Amino acid sequence: MDFKSANLVYFTGTGGTARVADAFERSFMKRSVSVLRTEIKGVADSMVFGDLLVLLFPVYAFNAPKPIEEWLKKIQPVNGRPAVVVSVSGGGEISPNTACRSATIRHLEKKGYDVIYEKMVVMPSNFMIGFDESLCAMVLHATPVIVEKVVVEMMEGERHRTEPYGIDRIASKLAYFEVFGGRFFGRHLKVNDKCVNCGWCEKLCPRDNIRIIDGKHIFGNDCVICLRCIYGCPQKAIEPGVGKFMVLPEGYNLSKVENRMDHLTVYPRISQATGHASLRGVRAYLIESNCFEV
Ligand SMILES: Cc1cc2nc3c(=O)[nH]c(=O)nc-3n(C[C@H](O)[C@H](O)[C@H](O)COP(=O)(O)O)c2cc1C
Ligand code: SF4
Ligand code: SF4
Repeated sequence: MDFKSANLVYFTGTGGTARVADAFERSFMKRSVSVLRTEIKGVADSMVFGDLLVLLFPVYAFNAPKPIEEWLKKIQPVNGRPAVVVSVSGGGEISPNTACRSATIRHLEKKGYDVIYEKMVVMPSNFMIGFDESLCAMVLHATPVIVEKVVVEMMEGERHRTEPYGIDRIASKLAYFEVFGGRFFGRHLKVNDKCVNCGWCEKLCPRDNIRIIDGKHIFGNDCVICLRCIYGCPQKAIEPGVGKFMVLPEGYNLSKVENRMDHLTVYPRISQATGHASLRGVRAYLIESNCFEV
């Protein structure tokens, strides 16, 4: 297919999905496809530009995050414009994640989009169970390779649609937990006395959910548990008041991993790095990338 321009539209909490968007941008630019990026943040632009929409989101509770659903409600109907849907997760294409794109695809089709390709991309997990450093680096290496493959296949006109497991469709519907849980989680965020009132969290919350008034943090009702404020606060001054189990005690900082990756020369085999049963989706992803010994 001959695309001249693509609109990369994405929501990201901790930067993983933004990096996947970077990889798409580089791959399109190499093929002289011009790219416009739209980050869904606060009151996001609901215009869609170009010949192709690429919609990217992190998987939250086996589904797309609420900001994606809100954005989809606002966009104008079209007549058969092609779209690609990319979900980004820490678990990969395993149950119950397999239905995480279904609601988004349904919404897009209702608006008249032709969803020509869907794909799960893996990024280091920021939720409950983190990856060790070498696995983070392996996944960060594999992702541009996988994205390149998606772009090549798509531009050659290959259609790629998947069939989720029936049980996962139910899980993805039941698990709209950040819609309800987010408000509760956000309301219970606490700021400790390490805070230096730098204002970073207020500026960078993707939901504009934090206000600092007279040095006091006020958390609104729009939190989606993206964890950006907790992992990103330079003083580590924001702590969850509820749901502590969701936050990695070691923190989450992809830039740090990227800086250290340059010095990593030896990688374990995929089977060694993904020995735990919970990592079988990550294992399949790394095998697909063909970047490392199995
Ligand atoms: C609230 C929340 C729920 C999540 N739920 C899932 C999930 O159901 N399945 C999964 O594989 N990963 C899940 N994750 C992990 C993220 O999808 C993954 O780390 C992703 O790379 C985050 O993207 P981001 O850095 O762009 O925010 C969840 C993360 C958060 C914060
Ligand atoms: S980012 Fe951290 S240090 Fe800065 S204002 Fe927010 S809580 Fe305080
Ligand atoms: S309050 Fe924190 S966790 Fe909630 S949406 Fe904003 S940055 Fe994300």
